Amino acid sequence: MKPIVAPIVAIDGPAAAGKGTLARRLAATLGLPYLDTGLLYRAVGVRVLEANGDPSEPATAEAAALSLQPRDLDRSDLRGPGADAAAASVASIPGVRIALLAFQRDFGARDGAVLDGRDIGTVIFPDAAAKLFVTAGLSERARRRWLELRAKGTGADIATVEEDIRQRDAKDAARAAAPLKAAADAFLLDTSAMDADTAYQAALTFVRSRIDTG
Ligand code: CDP
Repeated sequence: MKPIVAPIVAIDGPAAAGKGTLARRLAATLGLPYLDTGLLYRAVGVRVLEANGDPSEPATAEAAALSLQPRDLDRSDLRGPGADAAAASVASIPGVRIALLAFQRDFGARDGAVLDGRDIGTVIFPDAAAKLFVTAGLSERARRRWLELRAKGTGADIATVEEDIRQRDAKDAARAAAPLKAAADAFLLDTSAMDADTAYQAALTFVRSRIDTG
């Protein structure tokens, strides 16, 4: 019943829902590698911007995705409003998603992994051992992202942060290619009224019920 070989834990959900914090902690506890797949789209978007290209132009974005190097994920400029918007633009281009598919599947193939994103449980690993769809209300997600930005010293106004998130979610959910949506067999975790610890405990209990972690 419970797979023990190379388990995949898929964590999807809208922007700023706390997927990254949760996924990183689950990966550490379970002894699994962790991949923040948003970084792939962010790195492609930033590469296009850097070359003065248009992130919504398919040929340009696909070329950037095909030439992506693992070290691009370590760049320090992958977060912020410009990178957010560029990521969401390249992410709606089917050729970009195809170019990034093998990297994501290879990442989890050998030892299993925890991956977070928008389509991990629906497209990248439809057979994942455990799938979670993590969400929270828009204003709560905006508040969390605003606190994060403030801690980094980035001056951002909370209404602007909320509007950026709202637009990006709408774009992610409306696109034809791998739209943001919960897999039919995902565990829905609404963290609106939960702190990070409570969300982690709920997620861990679910994941342990699906995979045998020894
Ligand atoms: O951290 P945050 O939740 O704001 O975003 P992210 O997970 O870093 O993703 C940035 C953008 O990349 C999203 O708005 C999506 O457009 C895109 N993305 C995607 O399409 N598929 C994924 N698996 C991950 C991210």
